[in-house]
Amino acid sequence: MYNPLLTNLENGIFTITINRPDKMNALNQEVMNDLNNVMDEVYKNTDIKSVIITGAGNKAFVAGADISEFAGLSQQQGMALAKKGQDIFFKIENSPKPVIAAVNGFALGGGCELAMACHMRIASENAKFGQPEVNLGLIPGYGGTQRLPMLVGKGKAIELLLTGNMIDAATALQLGLVNYVVSQEQLIEKAISILQIINSKAPVAIAKCINAANHAYTGIKGYETEIFGFSECFTTEDVKEGTAAFLEKRKPNFKGK
Ligand code: COA
Repeated sequence: MYNPLLTNLENGIFTITINRPDKMNALNQEVMNDLNNVMDEVYKNTDIKSVIITGAGNKAFVAGADISEFAGLSQQQGMALAKKGQDIFFKIENSPKPVIAAVNGFALGGGCELAMACHMRIASENAKFGQPEVNLGLIPGYGGTQRLPMLVGKGKAIELLLTGNMIDAATALQLGLVNYVVSQEQLIEKAISILQIINSKAPVAIAKCINAANHAYTGIKGYETEIFGFSECFTTEDVKEGTAAFLEKRKPNFKGK
């Protein structure tokens, strides 16, 4: 049976693998629902001390939200989609147990946003990061406009958001977007070695550190602005053209309306 999320619990470390390798692990609603449920399990299950999120295969962590689900969305539906995605990613960010993104390839759009919602990011040498939504006539909707400036500073974040350019793992390390870059073979091992240290500490202290650090950044209005901007894009012709062009494997022809 096809299982969009694979999970494994070993020595208190819970590994969640997004498992759609033929679609670059793109986040469709099935994956998002499962991610939401599995995070409830993380909160509840006392055997889980910490979490790794990674992608299946060796090409992609997550290449974004599933663009095929964007076709024909209304403003209202765009708003609901972004709100739901942000809520699930808040659940990751506010998890009392540390979550590391083991970024094993492309982390684009929703994939970059998922990695940024985690508490730390470790990348393999082949990883690539970016927020290419503008290529679709869109803006990020799962927190990217808020968390990217927090992690890399506003100037570089704006450049990445407005150009849609991808950066490689070495650049991500230099910008502070990731904590470490290692070979693909060492990726999970590196995440485990950090989590083993954290798992030996007092869980209440760990949870309170996460909570306090999260409070250093309270961008509530910013997140609302993002939902509104994301959903307004769905009233444009350009988003229809951008998403259709991607699915038809051609360059978009934007008209500015
Ligand atoms: N949503 C839906 N499907 C996606 C996807 C996404 N975000 N990213 C990749 N896929 C699908 C492709 O459509 C393709 O499906 P097909 O085999 O049925 O045609 C499959 O995954 C493999 O992708 P492909 O583009 O052929 O691989 P590539 O190695 O040439 O390029 C990427 C890889 C990641 C650069 C490219 O897939 C890409 O640009 N993806 C979209 C990134 C994006 O815009 N994300 C933001 C979304 S908000």
